[in-house]
Amino acid sequence: MMMNNRILISPYNGLKFFYFEKLNATSSLEGFCCSVQEYNEYLTTDAVRSRKDHIALTWLLRDKEQKKIVSYMSLITDSIKISIAEKKFHSLNYPFKMIPSIKIAKLAVDEIFLGKYKGIGTYMIEFAESRTRFCDEIHAACRFLTVDADIEHNAKVLDFYKKNGFFVNEELYNKNRKTISMRKDIYY
Ligand SMILES: CC(C)(COP(=O)(O)OP(=O)(O)OC[C@H]1O[C@@H](n2cnc3c(N)ncnc32)[C@H](O)[C@@H]1OP(=O)(O)O)[C@@H](O)C(=O)NCCC(=O)NCCS
Repeated sequence: MMMNNRILISPYNGLKFFYFEKLNATSSLEGFCCSVQEYNEYLTTDAVRSRKDHIALTWLLRDKEQKKIVSYMSLITDSIKISIAEKKFHSLNYPFKMIPSIKIAKLAVDEIFLGKYKGIGTYMIEFAESRTRFCDEIHAACRFLTVDADIEHNAKVLDFYKKNGFFVNEELYNKNRKTISMRKDIYY
């Protein structure tokens, strides 16, 4: 994969190249290919069904030129248990442990576009943050963005999320070794 001279994507230029589409039953889903086969299959087999059953809402990022899927992300509601120390850290002095969140249930970037652009994954996380803020301001309170980082396929994905402001959740750490539960405080 050619990684040099990639164009850096940011909130300032993202919409010059791409646009977001909310997945629906008529969305064309062909051709997407990331490094994890399971994620390619999810998009063509389960994403529409999950939308129809109100289990996951998937956002597609498409390129303006060819309308190809550059990246996709499935978002779901969540609530996470945080430790006493974590509560202190976030200044959340409440008697309950569960804090409202939105979870990135799936995130993947197409390999061809990874070769052309840098920062698409980060751009998707910024989009998830904006959706979370929108939910919090208009519909229902939501403090964290969460993810179960998939270390089974790539242990270094933790670094990607850390670089984007996520912390490992103490309460859930190591309970499932295939994924690591992480959170990002949207209002910290
Ligand atoms: C993980 C993924 C979404 C990142 O997308 P991306 O467009 O490369 O992300 P960005 O360009 O915004 O950030 C990449 C940076 O994060 C860091 N990083 C660390 N580990 C990484 C990893 N495993 N993959 C990608 N970036 C990683 C690097 O610093 C990298 O910067 P560099 O390009 O200068 O090396 C993408 O690689 C992907 O789709 N992977 C396959 C599916 C997957 O693992 N999804 C996550 C499931 S929880």
